[in-house]
Amino acid sequence: MAEDLKLTPGLSREQTYKELIPQIEALVCNENDLVANLANIAAALKESFGFLWIGFYIVKEDELVLGPFQGPVACTRIKKGKGVCGTAWMEKRSIIVPDVDQFPGHIACSSQSKSEIVLPVYKHEEVSLILDLDSDRLNDFSEIDEQYLMELIRIVERKIV
Ligand code: SME
Repeated sequence: MAEDLKLTPGLSREQTYKELIPQIEALVCNENDLVANLANIAAALKESFGFLWIGFYIVKEDELVLGPFQGPVACTRIKKGKGVCGTAWMEKRSIIVPDVDQFPGHIACSSQSKSEIVLPVYKHEEVSLILDLDSDRLNDFSEIDEQYLMELIRIVERKIV
């Protein structure tokens, strides 16, 4: 049974991640359905930080296919190597984009998106999901987000081994 998130108002982003991540862990621990867990993780991040778009792309053959997300409607399929998400998949690395207009080949799903962070999620050492967060503010993501979102991803990875 899900309960409301308990978040202290006015905390820094880092402190909010510290409060949030154990709650997400509790939220997914008794549920083994991947889509259900990804949907709640996207909702929890949206509720906590209010970013423009938060969601998952799922690796299916040679493409990423849109999975659970919160925010404006988005592109449904992205080829390997294309855009920020396809590049993170191909190069197996997280990417922080301070200004999406400066990233060659960036795929603009929403004209409101100004900065972005994309992180791969692994299953048996292969990328199986991509976590993508978009902000309507320039330069909104840093290594702090990367560090805590990686923690979140480790929780997802433990569910999908
Ligand atoms: N901007 C991404 C596409 C996905 S949307 O931002 C939701 C990219 O360049 O891969």
